[in-house]
Amino acid sequence: MKEPVFLEGVVTLDRTGQVPLAEQIYRGFRNAVRSGLLRSGTRLPATRRLAQSLGVGRNTVNVAYDLLQAEGIVVLRPGAAAQIADELSLEGEGAKPVAPPLVTGLSARGKRLSENLRGPGRSEQHIAFQPGAPALDCFPYEDWARCLRRAARLERGDTMLYRHYAGIPALRRQLVDHLAIERGVRATPDQILITSSMQASLFLLAQALADPGDEAWLEEPGYIGARTAFHTAGLTIRPMAVDRDGADPKTIVPSGNRSRLIYVTPSHQFPFGARMPLARRLVLLEQAGKAGAVVLEDDYDSEFLFEGRPVAALYGLAEEGRVVYMSTFSKSLMPGLRIAYCVVPECLAERLSQGVRNMGCAANVQTQAALAHFMDSGGYRKHLKTIMQIYLERGSALVAALKNRLGDRISVEAPAGNVQVTLAFRQPVDDVAISAAMHRHGFSVSPLSSYYVGENAKPGLVIGFAGASMKEIETGVQTLARLLDDAERTSKAAFVERRPG
Ligand SMILES: Cc1ncc(COP(=O)(O)O)c(C=O)c1O
Repeated sequence: MKEPVFLEGVVTLDRTGQVPLAEQIYRGFRNAVRSGLLRSGTRLPATRRLAQSLGVGRNTVNVAYDLLQAEGIVVLRPGAAAQIADELSLEGEGAKPVAPPLVTGLSARGKRLSENLRGPGRSEQHIAFQPGAPALDCFPYEDWARCLRRAARLERGDTMLYRHYAGIPALRRQLVDHLAIERGVRATPDQILITSSMQASLFLLAQALADPGDEAWLEEPGYIGARTAFHTAGLTIRPMAVDRDGADPKTIVPSGNRSRLIYVTPSHQFPFGARMPLARRLVLLEQAGKAGAVVLEDDYDSEFLFEGRPVAALYGLAEEGRVVYMSTFSKSLMPGLRIAYCVVPECLAERLSQGVRNMGCAANVQTQAALAHFMDSGGYRKHLKTIMQIYLERGSALVAALKNRLGDRISVEAPAGNVQVTLAFRQPVDDVAISAAMHRHGFSVSPLSSYYVGENAKPGLVIGFAGASMKEIETGVQTLARLLDDAERTSKAAFVERRPG
């Protein structure tokens, strides 16, 4: 049996005397049943309580309930609560259920917010080769379960209340140490904002640091999540060219004082994977200074480096306030944990913490506590070591298979880290059609052209390898080769048909 009904929105009384109060109460309940707000079996409040809360006499409520009973809407039994009848037949004007009021339109912002810039046809299901997906088969589920159990046992104090929106102190401290050692980033715990994803961090920063109409510079090709955040914030997106050294800051042309944000992935350019050399990092900071823009440094996968030494983060090279550093645990652990973070300038830390609260994008406290313990106990470091080896094997196997099967039809580089590789087609190929066909065969690759904003999109494919087994790599590449052969045959046949006889 359902709990007694809460009256909000069911009965609103007009005390001008034009309609008897009992009739208004009766109509209120009747409409609530017709609209589906109240369902069969729902208990109504006792007459005394309802009379008190509506400020009417108890007799008025009795009359209303009698009317409802007479229509078969309510069942009254001595000594039991009034209840909405099980089999309702609302005859006459009530026969047709009235739909609750619908929200039918989106605001201009709502339309931008609900757009899918990744394009249709990408599978929500996990299938092999999904770009950006980590290896679920390597996740240390048992160790993580122990950390979660510990967090559930120990986190009972005020961290569980309306507090610490920008992250619990234990995890912020872990991140301060991790960033100082691994990334050359010096920050205080207050400067670390923990959010539910990099996407949430990007949304927060796009809204907080720029106004509609301002410009955001984005790598071309670049990460669609950043484009989505800037687009929703009403920013004008400007493409910044990418070459073998990553984003080329020389292509930033400041216009007036509207350039506010420059988004880059200097550790591994997304999607091509280039590591930005130190000299270029310095030019980028200089250009940002000239444009008066803040650099958003997306360090999404710097933990995976298969060779060489990591280059320190841009953040550590810059003057205070020029760079906001962002990272995520989606690649090193799992996207489903919903934990990411950013390092913001000291002078904005408090305001932006409030922003995390206001946007409602704070991360789950028990997960944060579990992660703090996982890092403190060395579990995270051990896990990184394990997956690095596995990712290296899978990435190398994928590139070897691609080169072997597709030869000079493509250009592809062995990944220096990362969880995906990007191949470019040397000949014109409809990469959207090839991706769609790959999807139909169970391989979730993405068309390279979808990562471009401007006219000069290049055809290619972005292929995630971190979660792919050796068997999937083998059959996926075979499938791709076959689909490319088919596409080539079809376009040759069409060419012959079109040739004048
Ligand atoms: C460049 C880049 N940044 C960020 C992310 C995702 O971060 P999150 O899952 O925390 O939103 C991805 C995921 O693929 C990515 O490729």
